[in-house]
Order: sequence, then structure tokens, then C-alpha cells
Amino acid sequence: MSHALAMPVINSRIEAETSADAEGVEALVMGAFGPGRFAKTAERLREGSQPTAGFVARRDGRVIGSVRLWPILAGDTPALFLGPIAVDANRRSDGLGADLVEACLDHARSLGAAVGGVLLVGDRAYFERFGFVPAPDAVLPGPVDRRRILWLATRVEQVAGPVRIAR
Ligand SMILES: CC(C)(COP(=O)(O)OP(=O)(O)OC[C@H]1O[C@@H](n2cnc3c(N)ncnc32)[C@H](O)[C@@H]1OP(=O)(O)O)[C@@H](O)C(=O)NCCC(=O)NCCS
Repeated sequence: MSHALAMPVINSRIEAETSADAEGVEALVMGAFGPGRFAKTAERLREGSQPTAGFVARRDGRVIGSVRLWPILAGDTPALFLGPIAVDANRRSDGLGADLVEACLDHARSLGAAVGGVLLVGDRAYFERFGFVPAPDAVLPGPVDRRRILWLATRVEQVAGPVRIAR
């Protein structure tokens, strides 16, 4: 995976994903979301694309937390699309989800002017603690509850217009 060299360890619990994590990530994400995830509009921004970066939490050699970032254009703004994010059901509420999100935000900031911010589709109740705000004018490639489209600006305050894979 091209992002294996992307980032150093951000704290003692989060590391850059490597190609050896692929199976563990797949099992974790499938357990959290089920096969229905492939029908989601968010998947349209991932299929056929390659992650810019991925981060994992491992315990005893097993992947217990995962998140990926994908290159997109939000309107005219180069950005990163965050997801899926999942933590093993037996390891939740211990801050791992927050550590994974923070790893993503650190990575986005490390890219400087190359990206304007981070976009995701998710629960505002969870993501607002990190500074995500609604981005109702971003238009995803399929049906989505627009209240769940969230943006965290690293360089560009707001985004509007079609969201698509950056190639
Ligand atoms: C969302 C998820 C990654 C959070 O992981 P985590 O390691 O438990 O996260 P944290 O420890 O940083 O935060 C846990 C807190 O967030 C809360 N929380 C979790 N999901 C939430 C949601 N969708 N909305 C609001 N609050 C949420 C938990 O209740 C918990 O609160 P507490 O600290 O008062 O107990 C994890 O719950 C998960 O894998 N869920 C299934 C996959 C999923 O739905 N992912 C996308 C979310 S939109």
C-alpha cells in the first residue's frame, strides 16, 4: 500500500497502516458496518481509488482500530475523505476512536496547502468534538442525509459543489 510510509507513529497506540494490516482492517470494518457499507454513497468516493493514508491500533498483533483517508476534490478544493473508521466493539470508549481521528487531522495538517480540510459522512454528535462542522453545500455522488456531511478546515473554511475522487 502506498501509504505505508506516510506517517510516523502519532502516539503509543496509533500507527500507520501497512499492507500487512489489510485483512485485519477488512474484518474490523466488515464487523462494524456489515456488507451494506458497499452500497453507501461514501463508498463511491473510495472504489477504484487508493487511500492517501491509513492508521491502525493494534493489540496482540490484531487490528482493533482503523481509519483511512482518501484523496477527493470538494468543489474546487483538494481535500481528504475520512472513513471508514471503526474500533473493535470490545475496545470502545477508551479514546481509540479519538486517537484515530486526531491521527487523520495531524496528517491533513502535515500536508499544508495541498489540502483544504477533511470531509466525512458521519454523526455530528461524535465528530463535532474534533471541530467538524456541517458542510451542507458539498454534494456527494449519491443519496445522503446532508446533515451528516461534515467538514474540518485545515486551510479552506467552507466547501461547496460536487465531491469526487481526486485522480
Ligand atoms: C465511532 C467509533 C469509531 C468510536 O470509537 P471509540 O474508540 O469508542 O471512540 P472514543 O473512545 O474516542 O469515544 C467514545 C465516546 O463517543 C461516543 N460515541 C461513539 N459513537 C458515537 C456516535 N455515533 N454519536 C455520538 N457519540 C458517539 C461513545 O458513546 C463514547 O462516549 P463516552 O466516552 O461518554 O462513553 C466506534 O464506536 C465504532 O467503531 N463504531 C462503529 C462504526 C461506526 O459507526 N463508525 C462511524 C461513526 S459515524
